[in-house]
Amino acid sequence: MKLIAPSVLSADFGHLERDMEMINRSEADWLHVDVMDGVFVPNISFGFPLMEPMRKYCRKPLDVHLMIVHPEKYVERFCDAGAWSVGFHLEAVEDPLPILDLIKAKGVRTCLTINPDIAVERLVPYLDKVDMVLLMSVFAGFGGQKFIPETMDKIRFVKSEITKRGLNTLIEIDGGVNAQNASELFAAGADVLVAGSAVFGSADPEKTIHEMKQ
Ligand code: DX5
Ligand code: ZN
Repeated sequence: MKLIAPSVLSADFGHLERDMEMINRSEADWLHVDVMDGVFVPNISFGFPLMEPMRKYCRKPLDVHLMIVHPEKYVERFCDAGAWSVGFHLEAVEDPLPILDLIKAKGVRTCLTINPDIAVERLVPYLDKVDMVLLMSVFAGFGGQKFIPETMDKIRFVKSEITKRGLNTLIEIDGGVNAQNASELFAAGADVLVAGSAVFGSADPEKTIHEMKQ
């Protein structure tokens, strides 16, 4: 699959309706929603109050990426707030399985995420238990960082593990993605590319989204 999920983190929150209308018109597949708590990551973004206007104005599925400690306390509320998928970090929890069950019980798609310093092998036991894995290609916390090249080999590794098992688990890549590296990422096995600054910082965001899908 070749899906693009612009990250709302880089949108203009003073003109959220306008930016969501751009997303609606564009070839973007999902809207990526970055939730940061200031504890798991050294930055705070936004929480539940923004889910409502995003759901109201955005017609694309909301792909929620929780960068928070204790995701078990909040995943159900994000499901109820209209998330299409909910992901959290493997390294933020002791046992992801009961938390995945909370999300599944809501009928929402699951995603397990790791930062670049977490061994990618740790995801393997969960490949058949989630809809998607998200490999961070920068350290979670901020938009506008530079893509970490070592991510490429991790994508190929995870893709081969998924293929070996005959699964259709999606691979999502988040951080430093742009129109220049998108095709290489898809070729390596990525299914979903998140892009914040490359999309919202573009003079022509719709064109950039289109180019990323080529
Ligand atoms: C980083 C977030 C990303 C971020 C990507 O912690 O998870 O989704 O918005 O931003 P860019 O595309 O600018 O690297
Ligand atoms: Zn993200």
